[in-house]
Amino acid sequence: KKNGYPHYMLKEIHEQPDALHNTITPRLRDGLPDFSDDGIPDQVFADCDQIAIVACGTAMYAGMVGKALMEPLLKIPVSVNIASEYRYESPLVDEKTLVIVISQSGETIDTLAALRLSKERGAKVLSVVNVKGSTIARESDYVFYTHAGPEIAVASTKAYMVQLSSLYLIGCRMAMVRGKFTEQEAAAFVDQLLSSIPAVEKILEHKSRIKTAAGVLSKAKDAFFVGRGLDYAFSLEGSLKLKEISYIHAEAYAAGELKHGTIALIEENTPVIAVATQDHIYGKTISNIREVRARGAFVILITKKGAEIPEGICDIHFEVPVSDDRFAVFPVAVILQLLAYYTSDLKGLNVDKPRNLAKSVTVE
Ligand code: M6R
Repeated sequence: KKNGYPHYMLKEIHEQPDALHNTITPRLRDGLPDFSDDGIPDQVFADCDQIAIVACGTAMYAGMVGKALMEPLLKIPVSVNIASEYRYESPLVDEKTLVIVISQSGETIDTLAALRLSKERGAKVLSVVNVKGSTIARESDYVFYTHAGPEIAVASTKAYMVQLSSLYLIGCRMAMVRGKFTEQEAAAFVDQLLSSIPAVEKILEHKSRIKTAAGVLSKAKDAFFVGRGLDYAFSLEGSLKLKEISYIHAEAYAAGELKHGTIALIEENTPVIAVATQDHIYGKTISNIREVRARGAFVILITKKGAEIPEGICDIHFEVPVSDDRFAVFPVAVILQLLAYYTSDLKGLNVDKPRNLAKSVTVE
């Protein structure tokens, strides 16, 4: 069942190129996103004046990437909401809100409750769900199914990857419908999205260096993930993955926030995983890395291929092959997943079934 892999998690990490392909290509017509087969009318994308994304855990972190992509593209407010908070707040959601609910299992109880509340408020609900016929899928107005196939490991990997690709497709279609993308621009965006598949494959070919970096992490008590903008959104997921399966205390911080308190925690050899793939803020992130470096941090740096790396800024460096910064998340996610995977495995832990966790969270 594990196809020769020692764990489901590693198998599922390797299934990501296929999962991306299976999720993206059925939604393309003449190289452009088209959701007619999903029964999602363009009207849904035209009618709203804001988007509220609601989810838990990894799905919510996919939503953070979705927001960072969509807000500048669509020029409307996009909020990301933790389902278990949203349902007890008084969310500003109405009939002009498109609520995007994200869930692998389609059964997460807090996410389901948030969906029901959104519908009561008159919002239209589009869900991004992996499990066919699940409760969230059945109760949504529209469903965009991710085609990851069954995900067995408790730590979500391939489901996150296809949730991202779904949000990118939805963002692209919405931009077309709302006049923010010409057909040419949309086609170029789709090309970039498709090129994330070979970018992911490339990382999978070079796993051994990631294992070496995991060797350092496996001895640590704490680890910090830092980045700005989209890189911060990726870091949140990287940190959740590490703590979930390796039991190492890990936190993600917007790099600019370090100096407002967190930097006090950096000591000699504290691992800092710095994600710096966004050109327009690269210099700023690098200066934040210098600050932790000066306090002795062990820095694992992830940049785009060809980025200029200042002398002595890091101990280990990984490059991702991307030309458009917005698509860096796909290969970066694989590096962060493998870092967590190898760290857990090197510690001899139960990678697929971490303590205290369940695959589907149906308690409130
Ligand atoms: O099935 P869902 O996508 O609704 O699950 C949401 C979270 O429980 C889930 O992503 C959880 O955070 C994962 N175990 C993270 O790897």
